[in-house]
Amino acid sequence: MRQVLKWLGIGLGILVGVLVVAVASAVLRGNSKLDQRYTIEPEAVNIPADATSIERGQYLAAVSCAGCHGDDLGGAPFFQDPAMGSIPAPNLTTGVGGAASTYSDADFVRSIRHGVGPDGKALAIMPAQAFWHYSDEDLGAIIAWLRNAPPVANDPGERSINLLPRLLIGIDAMKILAAESIDHMAARPTPATRQVDAGYGEYLVNTNDCRQCHGALLTGGQSSEPGAPPGPGLLGEGGAAAWTAAEFVTAMRDGVTPDGRPLDARFMPWEDYGRMTDDDLTALHLYLQSLPATGDTSQ
Ligand code: HEC
Ligand code: HEC
Repeated sequence: MRQVLKWLGIGLGILVGVLVVAVASAVLRGNSKLDQRYTIEPEAVNIPADATSIERGQYLAAVSCAGCHGDDLGGAPFFQDPAMGSIPAPNLTTGVGGAASTYSDADFVRSIRHGVGPDGKALAIMPAQAFWHYSDEDLGAIIAWLRNAPPVANDPGERSINLLPRLLIGIDAMKILAAESIDHMAARPTPATRQVDAGYGEYLVNTNDCRQCHGALLTGGQSSEPGAPPGPGLLGEGGAAAWTAAEFVTAMRDGVTPDGRPLDARFMPWEDYGRMTDDDLTALHLYLQSLPATGDTSQ
């Protein structure tokens, strides 16, 4: 009996040892992903100075950035949890502590398009994999707005990421570093012409991150946010593609589906997308309608 207990004890000891090593190496892997330096020479993007372009940038920022960085872009807590740590969305304006008070144009392009900060490290949460799709013209307009928006003096605090999320990042269970998934050397996509058609709708889907939660093919997916419900499939019968354009616009603007179901704004950012013009929402819907139910246009 004593022998058995002894071997059991040794076995347990080994098991615990192996576990400790596994956890430690996952955390270390997470650390090295967070500390990795990316060398990125961002593309030169023209920053316009005319009122029309700046206004265009204001519109795009309201739809694509304000949901996380705050309506005045002065920064906001994005994620705050005693176990996980905190990741604030920084102040982007020219006010004290704001990115536009210190960033060069290249710094902005690197962070918005490539998800990499001026120190070369990957930004967390910031959905650069979607913004990578913004044309030079639109990205330039957004940066122009950041430089011209009313300055806000606000410091939403420093990023601090605890052990648990470091472990989850290490084993790829929490994919929050866009810089990892972007092909930084890829050729720029051909810019879509701004008009009410499926082609421009595809551009809106790509730049606004719909695929992050609704799946690469929009046939259903899951956002990386803890506790989020699945992102339903948007195509085919029963999907949003089958709604009328007016029903789709209402769902995106008021957060209510045609059968009267409210959409949870904590997980589906309809309040941001609802700021799109009717034309843009209609283009988006035309794109959904243009896709086969499987979402796969290659067959
Ligand atoms: C889903 C939330 C989210 C959205 C949407 C978003 N951001 Fe961010 N952004 C963040 C977070 C969080 C950070 C901080 C990342 C970090 O500290 O690792 C960040 C960081 C940044 C930075 C780096 C600033 C600094 O001081 O380090 C810039 C620049 C930026 N975002 C611009 C934008 C722009 C422009 C848009 C819209 C086109 C946008 N973001 C949309 C969450 C978001
Ligand atoms: C951060 C994750 C996330 C992003 C990004 C996102 N969605 Fe959603 N979406 C969801 C979730 C989760 C639901 C289900 C919400 C609910 O039922 O309360 C949903 C629901 C919907 C619905 C209702 C579908 C139905 O059949 O009830 C539509 C339509 C929709 N999203 C369209 C879009 C479009 C278009 C985009 C991009 C412009 C987008 N979503 C981006 C997470 C997201």
